[in-house]
Amino acid sequence: MRKVTAEGACSRWRPTVPGEMRLFAALPIAEPARSEIAKLLGRLREASWPLRLVHDHGLHLTMKFFGEVQPARLEVIEEAVRSAVPGTGALSMRLDEIGAFPNFRRPRVVWVGLDAPPALELLQDRLERRSEAIGFAPEGTPYRPHVTLARVREGQRLPPGALESLADQYEPVPFLASELVLYESVLGRGGPRYEPRLTLELAS
Ligand code: 2AM
Repeated sequence: MRKVTAEGACSRWRPTVPGEMRLFAALPIAEPARSEIAKLLGRLREASWPLRLVHDHGLHLTMKFFGEVQPARLEVIEEAVRSAVPGTGALSMRLDEIGAFPNFRRPRVVWVGLDAPPALELLQDRLERRSEAIGFAPEGTPYRPHVTLARVREGQRLPPGALESLADQYEPVPFLASELVLYESVLGRGGPRYEPRLTLELAS
């Protein structure tokens, strides 16, 4: 799993610092995969487990999390993201399994994992290196591509076997990623809203 650094741990839970913006690069989950995952979220909603579900319109596969940054840095970040893309064509993948961090026994985050071509990891690695060159520390642990579906509510647990039964019913979904987006995560009352700052087509 991704290592949560001291900086990462803070940026995951605290509200955005006034005057700063929270940025991350991700592959948006496009149709028809988005609708399939929306159905899965519907099933989770009906199950009434103690989960905070993500919004189905903001589904994404995070590639690089920049955290809180000064707006003055936006341009250099955009340039780093832009420079990582050439040579990466559209990525044909499959959302192929239900998983959980840290594990199924005591899940905190529920996700769908991907079966992806090596080009996904190459793109992620280029993003990591270009970001390091402009001062963002690398994650330090292997990249685990996943689409977050839900987070278990603080202090609560899922019923035993809940995720196993969800995983048993899950049918893999094909997913073609044709763009990389630099998003700003804007925190609001109904949870975060993801606003595209830069959209780059994946076409070699
Ligand atoms: P994840 O759900 O795939 O883990 C926008 O906040 C996105 O950035 C989230 O969907 C999350 O991706 C990722 N993210 C948030 N906080 C993070 C952190 N501290 N370290 C790494 N990724 C983070």
